[in-house]
Amino acid sequence: MGTTINSYLLPCCVLILFSSISQVLSVDSTYNNFLQCLKNQSNSSTNISTILYSKENKSYNSVLQAYIRNLRFTYPTTSKPLLIITPFTPSQVSASVVCARKLGHQVKIRSGGHDYDGLSYISDHPFVILDMQNLRHIEVDPKAATAYIEAGSTLGELYYRIQEKTNTLGFPAGVCPTVGVGGHVSGGGYGNMIRKYGLSVDHIIDATVVDAQGRILNRSTMGDDLFWAIRGGGGASFAVVVSYTVNLVPVPETVTVFNIKRFLTDNATDLVYKWQFLMKDIDHNLFIRLLLQPVSDPQNKGKKTGRVTFIALYLGDSKALFSLLNTKFPELGLKKQDCLEMTWGKSALFWANYDNKTSPEVLLNRTYLANYSKRKSDYVQTPITKKGLNLLWKKLITLSKPGMVFNSYGGRMNEIPATDTPFPHRRGNLFKIQYSTSWKDAGKLDEDKYIGLMRELHTFMTPYVSKNPRGAYFNYRDVDIGVSHNWTYQQGQVYGKQYFKGNFDRLVKVKTLVDPTNFFRNEQSIPTLKSLGVI
Ligand SMILES: Cc1cc2nc3c(=O)[nH]c(=O)nc-3n(C[C@H](O)[C@H](O)[C@H](O)COP(=O)(O)OP(=O)(O)OC[C@H]3O[C@@H](n4cnc5c(N)ncnc54)[C@H](O)[C@@H]3O)c2cc1C
Ligand SMILES: *[C@@H]1O[C@H](CO)[C@@H](O)[C@H](O)[C@H]1NC(C)=O
Ligand SMILES: *[C@@H]1O[C@H](CO)[C@@H](O)[C@H](O)[C@H]1NC(C)=O
Ligand SMILES: *[C@@H]1O[C@H](CO)[C@@H](O)[C@H](O)[C@H]1NC(C)=O
Ligand SMILES: *[C@@H]1O[C@H](CO)[C@@H](O)[C@H](O)[C@H]1NC(C)=O
Ligand SMILES: *[C@@H]1O[C@H](CO)[C@@H](O)[C@H](O)[C@H]1NC(C)=O
Ligand SMILES: *[C@@H]1O[C@H](CO)[C@@H](O)[C@H](O)[C@H]1NC(C)=O
Ligand SMILES: *[C@@H]1O[C@H](CO)[C@@H](O)[C@H](O)[C@H]1NC(C)=O
Ligand SMILES: *[C@@H]1O[C@H](CO)[C@@H](O)[C@H](O)[C@H]1NC(C)=O
Ligand SMILES: *[C@@H]1O[C@H](CO)[C@@H](O)[C@H](O)[C@H]1NC(C)=O
Ligand SMILES: *[C@@H]1O[C@H](CO)[C@@H](O)[C@H](O)[C@H]1NC(C)=O
Repeated sequence: MGTTINSYLLPCCVLILFSSISQVLSVDSTYNNFLQCLKNQSNSSTNISTILYSKENKSYNSVLQAYIRNLRFTYPTTSKPLLIITPFTPSQVSASVVCARKLGHQVKIRSGGHDYDGLSYISDHPFVILDMQNLRHIEVDPKAATAYIEAGSTLGELYYRIQEKTNTLGFPAGVCPTVGVGGHVSGGGYGNMIRKYGLSVDHIIDATVVDAQGRILNRSTMGDDLFWAIRGGGGASFAVVVSYTVNLVPVPETVTVFNIKRFLTDNATDLVYKWQFLMKDIDHNLFIRLLLQPVSDPQNKGKKTGRVTFIALYLGDSKALFSLLNTKFPELGLKKQDCLEMTWGKSALFWANYDNKTSPEVLLNRTYLANYSKRKSDYVQTPITKKGLNLLWKKLITLSKPGMVFNSYGGRMNEIPATDTPFPHRRGNLFKIQYSTSWKDAGKLDEDKYIGLMRELHTFMTPYVSKNPRGAYFNYRDVDIGVSHNWTYQQGQVYGKQYFKGNFDRLVKVKTLVDPTNFFRNEQSIPTLKSLGVI
């Protein structure tokens, strides 16, 4: 099943082949017009040409590829931007927005480039990329327990800058160090302190944005509605996020982690079953993520079996963790030597699969060895029965490719009202599922096959997950959502409701207010009332 994006690739490519001469001219004039406009908008002292790339620039390709984190979007046929703009300052962001608007270009905003379906750097219409990679300053103030974070920073850089100053503060956000702040935080931001502290968006105290008119605004000048929307509604529908200012959260000097594996023959099903009940209100300092995967059976050569991996973070020492789990979850069979004590900063390395000899500087490394990949998501509100889990293992083993990640909710997530921020999946959710498939071989055949297996698994899960609407996590971008619906109104309603539930209507109102001409848009952006056909 093709997406709207894929269906535009072929005509686009043919067009380029048959009009190479006029293309060169138009590349030049597109570039020159944009440059001229930027010059008009800027102070004469700034060397504005250093932030603008056309296809004629030698480094255009490397700048484009540097933040593509999914090889599915690196084919020669993948749509390419007319221009890439890499501003260094808020006023250059402002000039870029003004010029894109004036010259009629669609803008894709890119920070870390981790969008699972590539929406920050591909489009089915001519477009330019506003790439935030040069806006990556971070200022940690341990006394005030706050941090100023520019949108082009990565989570790894943030964690590095925090642990450089203190071992008793942290920030609740995702576990992959190369994820960008601009997309991650504006879309919710979820990680291993969710049960203690909720999401990244629950800790934002200020932001700098550039709106659709090019105005540079902060919390007090942007107004409550826009400030609400950019805390979970996704930045890309509303404004360019230049920076967030956040409250850091207290963490103990010693935290504990473990990573243990159980096969089906180790009663994996019983353990997963019990975990579902346990995480709702067990000690908020504990987070346990499960990976469910089909693997080769170590006891039965050539056969597949199921394996679950328990990965935990406990905000406390190993003695307390050991006693907690021995009391509440003795079946897990946790051993003292499974529990590793370290600082919170080191735990960021552990969660990124680095061993304890790795130095924290690796958090500053922006290189990401990408695969071809596809992700989907679901929320579970009623524990899956043992019978259901047995069927699920059978399905995983039969499909023999996709894996699942179960991320525990509960704790603090049960206490924050669903309307506080656009992120709606709070009380009542036991855990979130991420469906995950990665592969290494190029080609449409593999892609169709593997994505097909994911969709089959997702369909299989229908009886076990949330309904009406079936919930999905906005930051786990999935362009499958709503594509069977034909026109923008229906499609927008479908992904809007699945990602944002009851908050979708308010997001549409805010969008209509702050960007009535729908300048900031993408394949899954928040529509205006007008584009919904309401006014
Ligand atoms: C390997 C990997 C691990 C992940 N782990 C987690 C995790 O642990 N927890 C979690 O919650 N999520 C996780 N995610 C999902 C991640 O949060 C989202 O993909 C997020 O949107 C990525 O942000 P980005 O800036 O890197 O992406 P981009 O692709 O740059 O942007 C994503 C979206 O945000 C928009 N955007 C980006 N920057 C800005 C800006 N400055 N202003 C306005 N809009 C902007 C883009 O236009 C696009 O629509 C993971 C993703 C990957 C690939
Ligand atoms: C730049 O400014 C000049 C003089 O104000 C104007 O004539 C020209 O049209 C502007 N060009 C662009 C691309 O904005
Ligand atoms: C021009 O310079 C002034 C003074 O340094 C500054 O306030 C303003 O933001 C700059 N404008 C642009 C567009 O760079
Ligand atoms: C792109 O190419 C033009 C023309 O050669 C040049 O002036 C400009 O500096 C280049 N841009 C970058 C960012 O290198
Ligand atoms: C402006 O940038 C270009 C491209 O990087 C460089 O060649 C040129 O020397 C710079 N000019 C000034 C005045 O800094
Ligand atoms: C927000 O911007 C306004 C107007 O520029 C300014 O007066 C105010 O000090 C800013 N607020 C903060 C917290 O920086
Ligand atoms: C699995 O469960 C059974 C019965 O509940 C128990 O006897 C057995 O020891 C368990 N196996 C493991 C590996 O924990
Ligand atoms: C590092 O990890 C190894 C293997 O897990 C362990 O034996 C060792 O004690 C750890 N070292 C420190 C300093 O934690
Ligand atoms: C950064 O990470 C990449 C990919 O893991 C690796 O190949 C490279 O050596 C690392 N660079 C540094 C300086 O550590
Ligand atoms: C890429 O996929 C392989 C399996 O095909 C996996 O082992 C590896 O961890 C993946 N890399 C990333 C960055 O996801
Ligand atoms: C999609 O819309 C077109 C034009 O409105 C219509 O002809 C077609 O039947 C629709 N397809 C589906 C699957 O609804």
